[in-house]
Amino acid sequence: MTNKLKYFIGNWKMFGDLSSLKIIYQVHKFCARFKRRGKKNKIILCVPNTLIYFFTTKLKSKFISIGAQNCHHHKTYGPFTGSVSASMLKKIGAKYIILGHSENRSEGDTGQLIKKKIELALKQKLNIIFCIGETFKEKKEDKTFLVLRKQIRDSIDKKYNLNKVIIAYEPIWSIGTGKIPEIQELKKIFIFIKNEFKKNFKTKIFPVVLYGGSVNDSNIKLFSSISEIDGFLIGGASQSSKKFIDIIKNYYK
Ligand code: PGA
Repeated sequence: MTNKLKYFIGNWKMFGDLSSLKIIYQVHKFCARFKRRGKKNKIILCVPNTLIYFFTTKLKSKFISIGAQNCHHHKTYGPFTGSVSASMLKKIGAKYIILGHSENRSEGDTGQLIKKKIELALKQKLNIIFCIGETFKEKKEDKTFLVLRKQIRDSIDKKYNLNKVIIAYEPIWSIGTGKIPEIQELKKIFIFIKNEFKKNFKTKIFPVVLYGGSVNDSNIKLFSSISEIDGFLIGGASQSSKKFIDIIKNYYK
């Protein structure tokens, strides 16, 4: 159930401009050194659309992949003012895409809509970082497993190339709040997600599942005791090269 490769994915959200290239350079320099110590890490930065082309052309890094954070559910081009399609993102260098983030769900992304987006992004051969997670109310009402199962079933189809789908478990009450789940509880949730996915879609291997929600350089060590966690989706702390690098360093301490 454990994956050897560990993912550290930054979700920059609505942050960054051209000068943020220096953050990426710092992370790149760190990765180049760290790699030699034989750690198997995958570093991905999901940045605003305005920066994808700039970053992918400026920095040819074999250590860092660049991703997007959302796309429109329509195929390629069309009368959708302000929207960007998966194919447009692919063409400017994105390799990954976050879909189903709770911040987008709260603005109207339903399970069905996310499913369409996943389908189109997979057609473009983008790797999907599919976010799921329960609200605090749902957690209190003991509905976490029910909610996660529904979110997975609503948006994933077994005919998809599931090797290209990474799941990010992000409890909504934990995002940007400084609160994190109890470690024992979190372990159970990870085992549930992995089993549920494998059983439901009849895959040979367990999916890659990440944790996201208030991950920082001080709490990262706590998560390292859960072998089922394959990596992290890091929001606020990924906007600083130092914080992001310290998370990776401290994970292995
Ligand atoms: P956070 O955000 O690390 O700032 O809590 C995580 C996310 O929204 O992906």
